[in-house]
Amino acid sequence: MERAQKTGNMGDRTGTKTRSGSDELIFFVNGKKIVEKNADPEMTLLTYLRRKLGLTGTKLGCAEGGCGACTVMLSRYQTHSKRLLHYAINACLAPLCSLHLVAVTTVEGIGSVARKLHPVQERIAKAHGSQCGFCTPGIVMSMYALLRNNPTPKMADMEEAFQGNLCRCTGYRPILEGYKTFTVEGGCCGGRGQKNGCCMSNGNGAQNGSEEKINEATSLFNPAEFAPFDPTQEVIFPPELMTLSKDQKPHSLCFHGERMTWLQPDSLDEFLNLKWKHPDARVVVGNTEVGVEVKFKNMVYPVILAPTFIPELSAVTHTEDGIVFGAACTLSHMAVVLRQAVESLPPHKTEVFLAVLEQLRWFAGVQIRNVAAVGGNIMTASPISDLNPVFMAAGCKLTLVDKDGSREVQMDDGFFTGYRRTALRPQEILLSIHIPYSKKTQFVSAYKQSPRREDDISIVTAAMSVTFTPGTDVVEDLRLSYGGMAPTTVLAKKTANRLMGRPWGEELLEEACNSLAEEMSLDPSVPGGMVTYRRTLTLSLFYKFYLTVLQKLRLQGLKVTEVTSDCLSATEVYHPETPSSVQIYQAVPKGQSQDDVVGRPIMHLSAMKQATGEAVYCDDVPLYENELYLSLITSSKAHARILSIDTSAAEHCPGVVCFLFADDIPGSNTAGSIKFDETVLADGEVTCVGHIIGAVVANTQLQAQRAAKAVKIKYEERQPVITIQEAIATQSFYQPIRTIQNGDLELGFKQADHILEGEMHIGGQEHFYLETNVTLAVPRGEDGEMELFVSTQAPTHTQSLVARALGVPANRVVVRVKRMGGGFGGKESRTTLLSTVVAVAANKLKRPVRCMLDRDEDMLITGGRHPFYGKYKVGFLNSGRVVALDVTYYGNAGNSMDLSQAIVERALFHMENSYRVPNIRGRGFLCRTNLPSNTAFRGFGGPQGMMVAESWMTDVAQSLGKSPEEVRRLNLYMKGDSTPFNQVLDQITLDRCWDECMSRSGYQQRRIAIDLYNRQNRWTKRGIAVVPTKFGISFTALFLNQAGALVHIYTDGSVLLTHGGTEMGQGLHTKMVQVASRVLGIPSSKIHISETSTNTVPNTSATAASVSSDLNGAALKNACEILLKRLEPFKAKNPNGTWEDWVKAAYFDRVSLSANGFYKTPDIGYDFETNSGRAFSYFSYGVACSEVEIDCLTGSHKNLSTTIVMDVGNSLNPAIDIGQVEGAFMQGLGLFTLEELHYSPQGVLLTRGPGSYKIPAFGDIPTQLTVSLLRDAPNDKAIFASKAVGEPPLFLASSVFYAIKDAISAARAESGITGPFRLDSPASAERIRNACSDRFTKLCPPAEAGTFIPWSVQV
Ligand SMILES: Cc1cc2nc3c(=O)[nH]c(=O)nc-3n(C[C@H](O)[C@H](O)[C@H](O)COP(=O)(O)OP(=O)(O)OC[C@H]3O[C@@H](n4cnc5c(N)ncnc54)[C@H](O)[C@@H]3O)c2cc1C
Ligand code: FES
Ligand code: FES
Repeated sequence: MERAQKTGNMGDRTGTKTRSGSDELIFFVNGKKIVEKNADPEMTLLTYLRRKLGLTGTKLGCAEGGCGACTVMLSRYQTHSKRLLHYAINACLAPLCSLHLVAVTTVEGIGSVARKLHPVQERIAKAHGSQCGFCTPGIVMSMYALLRNNPTPKMADMEEAFQGNLCRCTGYRPILEGYKTFTVEGGCCGGRGQKNGCCMSNGNGAQNGSEEKINEATSLFNPAEFAPFDPTQEVIFPPELMTLSKDQKPHSLCFHGERMTWLQPDSLDEFLNLKWKHPDARVVVGNTEVGVEVKFKNMVYPVILAPTFIPELSAVTHTEDGIVFGAACTLSHMAVVLRQAVESLPPHKTEVFLAVLEQLRWFAGVQIRNVAAVGGNIMTASPISDLNPVFMAAGCKLTLVDKDGSREVQMDDGFFTGYRRTALRPQEILLSIHIPYSKKTQFVSAYKQSPRREDDISIVTAAMSVTFTPGTDVVEDLRLSYGGMAPTTVLAKKTANRLMGRPWGEELLEEACNSLAEEMSLDPSVPGGMVTYRRTLTLSLFYKFYLTVLQKLRLQGLKVTEVTSDCLSATEVYHPETPSSVQIYQAVPKGQSQDDVVGRPIMHLSAMKQATGEAVYCDDVPLYENELYLSLITSSKAHARILSIDTSAAEHCPGVVCFLFADDIPGSNTAGSIKFDETVLADGEVTCVGHIIGAVVANTQLQAQRAAKAVKIKYEERQPVITIQEAIATQSFYQPIRTIQNGDLELGFKQADHILEGEMHIGGQEHFYLETNVTLAVPRGEDGEMELFVSTQAPTHTQSLVARALGVPANRVVVRVKRMGGGFGGKESRTTLLSTVVAVAANKLKRPVRCMLDRDEDMLITGGRHPFYGKYKVGFLNSGRVVALDVTYYGNAGNSMDLSQAIVERALFHMENSYRVPNIRGRGFLCRTNLPSNTAFRGFGGPQGMMVAESWMTDVAQSLGKSPEEVRRLNLYMKGDSTPFNQVLDQITLDRCWDECMSRSGYQQRRIAIDLYNRQNRWTKRGIAVVPTKFGISFTALFLNQAGALVHIYTDGSVLLTHGGTEMGQGLHTKMVQVASRVLGIPSSKIHISETSTNTVPNTSATAASVSSDLNGAALKNACEILLKRLEPFKAKNPNGTWEDWVKAAYFDRVSLSANGFYKTPDIGYDFETNSGRAFSYFSYGVACSEVEIDCLTGSHKNLSTTIVMDVGNSLNPAIDIGQVEGAFMQGLGLFTLEELHYSPQGVLLTRGPGSYKIPAFGDIPTQLTVSLLRDAPNDKAIFASKAVGEPPLFLASSVFYAIKDAISAARAESGITGPFRLDSPASAERIRNACSDRFTKLCPPAEAGTFIPWSVQV
């Protein structure tokens, strides 16, 4: 690595001009010029927008570039190309200082409800693509940026644009459907283009008019109502900025902050001199790595060097043997250049380019690729970098420079010297990378395997390059490069050397696999875990490469082993298919008045505001003048005694106002949901990592968070119990242990022809509501009054715990909830952890205090869905009929009871899912562990209960060699059957749902096609499963089944509704307005809901258990009917009058125009002791059929198709109900196939953000999705014959899990393995791969359990 040359003009300048102050930062936001004189290098654009400019439309979801909620568009005039660039970015990672001469467009800048919505805002709203709305501004801006660059995009462009955006509510389908109308394929043709591409034939067109399907509607919105999109009307680039940009003379910038200085040199010389002067300075381009380090790893970089505008670092130069990219070239730009090269060069020259492009396809999301630089990826030296393996395998060269000269180095294992370390010297920088053309006889491939396909970091990433002696299949050069197998990207040199000079054939493959298994070994305790899987992947990926190269050699006319047709699919590169969907529901009866909106697919009432960023969430409430910020101090130990708390260092942190510990609580320090078995602030002992010990209150968020981290705590550790298995071993259970028993178990097993035993573990799940927990507490200054703005599903519970902690009566505390950015059960009880502490702080300081948890804190502290372990013994007849079941459930409750008792009870209530089992016993144990308390989550234990049921059902079928569908149908409940808890199923629609699902999905034809496919393909397999669900509707705690409402009619005729339910995106308020509109007989436009508050409707149950429409709808109906009765005389007197006339007349006659309504569910109340009484008011039913394809070599899977038939009674609003079905299905899909929380053996949550915890993304929706609401199924137990819908559909996603299991069975059969096998949930890529036992897995056996400490444990 000899120094090659001197770079010119470097010797004389030693650095930038010394500055005492900072430069002015000039940029534009939504067309308005901003001149910031004190730009803080530590501030992100997001904080600036939200806090300084009050532009709260842009949301904070994760602060790590992983959710897209903060997406904004940047526009920049590029002087050298004289082009305007528009690109989407994550404002949470964009340093404010990087914005000089940039125009920022936020969601507020493109439209508003008052002014006019932009078509991208209008269409997402009207297409029902916004539920809680927290993700909506980000999605709007991703779409907007795409259209600014390409007004007529293809569907594929759109899918790419959304790779970096997450939504937890909608299931994505309606967003794509609405935006499809912008695309080439989906632009609305008014029904003329009848085949593919017509939105009308794809679910959003006119009503289906065929005779037998009369009243069947498939239209949820009407594209004809959309305002046309006219790209020429877009906001222009600010003319002043254009002038400034064109006239700008190169000049360097400097911004000083409290801890950081930002230096932006204008020339390479200056840059190198600065680096010489500040060898420890961080070079920042995209800040996608450094930003995360600063935010989450507490790194402090006193000097930042920002070289973005140095021409040499952004230059692209085509040379004789390749292309040289400046280190600051963004990945998006690099992709454009490489694509152009691929199009213009002969194919043999572009093998390396294609491999880089393949990696870039799955590299982060567009927002990251638009700013992240190639140099940043190389220099981060991450062992799981996606590009470094390709660069290494391809033999790329790097140019490194310092002020004295430059040197060229080969990118090989000599360059990466250790974990995140390189051979770069402190004063050097990376100038460029040379990516070579491939040779005529060279083949290159790259592979990335990650838990989720889109926007995910790799588990293993690989690139392979082979060069043959011309005219032969003899290996001349081979480079196999792997990421994820060592602390650095590594070359499998030994293996490569062994294969040198060998012909490309079966023997070479054999040798390669044996050698790789040896060379790419991993310590069983290695960080990241998945040891067997990672090792197997190194072989499986090589095998893919082997087959691919064989094909290419054959194409060149060489006589090599033929790749048989059944192996071809192993070489296919994944290409997503454009999804299509159908939604079917029953139209309202002919003759229903137009003003009666019940049963119509009307839009979520806040959707427009959500799409423009005007909808106000808790943290969008403007700052109070004297407001303070709170940060929590939490335990780093799972179980320990606190020996000491040292705040001395923290006290010296700037801005600190006070600390709070247990002694500061004026009232009671005990808290909890049903039992008071928790503390508000830990008192001497901590029982989980994340246990709240105290809090720091400071002037700003940053100050509070820094001080919290500076608090030092000494612990005396105790042995923790982390996993269910540890709890069983130590008998660590909460009481009582519940049992439901029916029939004669002993007799049942005697009758059985066969008895099988099995077990299953179902992993937990993080709620991942896009809006994390947030509370703003405002002391009112009198009589201990406190007002709280909280993102909670349970205002009353929040109120009572705050009152308890403050030692005041509940009537002094008002809790207000406008809307939540998602809840899913996670904001039912655990929100009080934060709200109580914030209230205590506000009370102590007599000043408003706010806290919004960071995503990592939220995930760490607030618990999630209970992991479950189920053990079963099932007895069945030869026919497949199940006659006896003994099942035991263990739920991991964590360190407090919270709602766990009711959750395990619900698992028991659903232990037979939808099947009649005459002799049955179910027992439910609640494991007391040292994890943060697990809590309610959509389905509330029901999905876990049913999941185990489907496991034994599958086992029964597999052991009999029958199809699981046949066995399921045989055992399905019929009308009049009774459940194990003695509830007679009188209005059952399961069979109808089943039969409709079978026919709509074309199950029989699919089964035949799948069997054929599986015979023809060795390394990809397809599977199918049909799964029913029966979900009991009511709170299982009797007293919660009540609701109140308050309705005011004002003298102008407008109506204000308040009820006990909260809005978290599920459309409750919209449905309630529909109900009131029908009862009062007035248009919904006259009705408004402002918020939910404890001083209007008291003593409310949490918005949970799917019953909020039932309960609150009935209470509202009651209130409205009271008012109607009062208005009757005035109507009678003036029958031709208007609503307003009657209201006025009543007012002048001194009639109260305000009424309370109340409702309690009749005839319910179950007793565990006697197994009698009605547990549920009614049941919701549904059936889903899913088809998948798995890649047996990597464990990836594709969701090919899903058909859902759901009984929601007479739908109050089909758009909202279908939204709930699809949203729940996608959340279930995450639960059963994707989402994995990893805990260390010491109980530390290792997955604390979207980077490591993957919820389903746009690309995970089934390619074909059909949702049909069962017609003619009125329910006499709920408002206007409707049914609950929030939770029941979630379990239907298990059809995907069991379809995967079906496909795995086919793969195992290839290795001669048949019969039942255990597959735990989620069916992750790792589990799928490991279950597909074959020659490669055999070479990588797992280490013996107990001989090592694993990185993570199954809790
Ligand atoms: C949400 C998200 C998703 C991601 N997905 C992926 C992924 O799929 N695959 C993957 O491989 N990575 C991924 N990353 C990691 C990261 O985006 C990449 O490594 C990216 O290329 C870093 O570029 P940057 O310009 O943002 O780096 P910065 O954060 O600006 O800098 C990163 C490091 O490189 C150094 N550096 C930068 N340029 C130079 C230079 N010219 N000379 C010397 N040192 C330099 C900096 O000092 C710093 O230490 C992801 C990151 C995020 C936040
Ligand atoms: S908040 Fe920026 S990507 Fe999540
Ligand atoms: S609507 Fe997307 S996260 Fe709620």
